[in-house]
Amino acid sequence: MPATNPTYRLRRSPPAVAIIGATGAVGVELLTILAERDFPVGELRLFASSRSAGKTLPFRGHDIGVETLGENSFAGIDLALFSAGSGIAKQYAPVAVRAGAIVIDNSSAFRMDPAVPLAVPEINAAALVGHNGIIANPNCAAIIAITPLWPIHRRNRIRRLILSTYQAASGAGAAAMAELVASTRAHFAGDSFAPRVLPHTYAFNLFSHDTAIDPTTGYNAEETKVINETRKIFDDPQIRVGVTCIRVPVLRAHAVAVTVECESPIDPEEARALIADAPGCRLVDDRERNHFPMPLEATGQDSILVGRIRRDLSDPSGHSLALFVAGDQLRKGAALNAVQIAEMLLP
Ligand SMILES: NC(=O)c1ccc[n+]([C@@H]2O[C@H](COP(=O)([O-])OP(=O)(O)OC[C@H]3O[C@@H](n4cnc5c(N)ncnc54)[C@H](OP(=O)(O)O)[C@@H]3O)[C@@H](O)[C@H]2O)c1
Repeated sequence: MPATNPTYRLRRSPPAVAIIGATGAVGVELLTILAERDFPVGELRLFASSRSAGKTLPFRGHDIGVETLGENSFAGIDLALFSAGSGIAKQYAPVAVRAGAIVIDNSSAFRMDPAVPLAVPEINAAALVGHNGIIANPNCAAIIAITPLWPIHRRNRIRRLILSTYQAASGAGAAAMAELVASTRAHFAGDSFAPRVLPHTYAFNLFSHDTAIDPTTGYNAEETKVINETRKIFDDPQIRVGVTCIRVPVLRAHAVAVTVECESPIDPEEARALIADAPGCRLVDDRERNHFPMPLEATGQDSILVGRIRRDLSDPSGHSLALFVAGDQLRKGAALNAVQIAEMLLP
């Protein structure tokens, strides 16, 4: 990363760190990843809603109390990792910045703000230099779909991208994961189960992503995020993206079927070699054993698994490829990506 702006870094190391939304699916994963990666942490403060008052969470052998978030929560904090939704981010991220913290936010609140970097370190780490206190972590499906595509895009521009997602319960938070387990148990027990978190029966079903549909485009909010964020992260406003986002009864990792159309003809072997060397990606592409990326094998992994790399036979010009990816979106799709960004801010 070019060191043109030394002020983009944290003001001290080890930084005082706050996690906002520490009790949630992403918050708990942030704690795990900070510990796993030996991220330097001075003071650590954990915040959630008043519902979590009195809870503790373990970190490096200590039980840390969860505090109720408030206007005065950020005094002395250098790094604030937000994973508590857009409303909380809009209300409190500016408060944290005024108190001197750098905010890395997992919600969609600031992602499309032109003054806010939207960063995947493997793709556009240089964008971090321009931050004004807030850095946005991208949408999980976008991170998992496009990180393996970046080396291809750099070599042979992708002019059109078609994605179909298979998104896990974890993308809708800890309560949705619990609902998938409970509805599956109810199914086997022969009990009825009324969905509370998600709009439809989840066990042994799949449905269109549970975000609102834009009446003009017919695309839901998740699909719109993937389109807009891909353009911003690749810094390519012209890239054409079509996407269908589907929620599937998988606990933790997302999968995406991808078709890319490049400016020039592309050989599947060339793409395989580029992806094999791509940071943050691992080839799982064993045709003999019919072994390709799977959510269960992506679960708990830092790498995005990539396979089924083949020519798209519907494009006889040779410009198009198809592939399939799976990635743990609580890790690379959220907490890991946020901690990787934080590592780049260390002085
Ligand atoms: N899950 C993912 O894979 C993923 C991926 C990328 C981005 N994100 C984004 O990350 C954020 C968190 O997602 P999640 O999946 O971790 O959700 P979650 O499991 O539902 O957790 C939400 C967290 O926010 C806290 N919270 C809710 N209301 C609050 C309030 N008024 N004040 C303070 N804290 C409050 C909750 O605290 P309580 O426990 O006290 O309610 C909990 O810690 C969301 O913006 C989501 O869009 C999630």
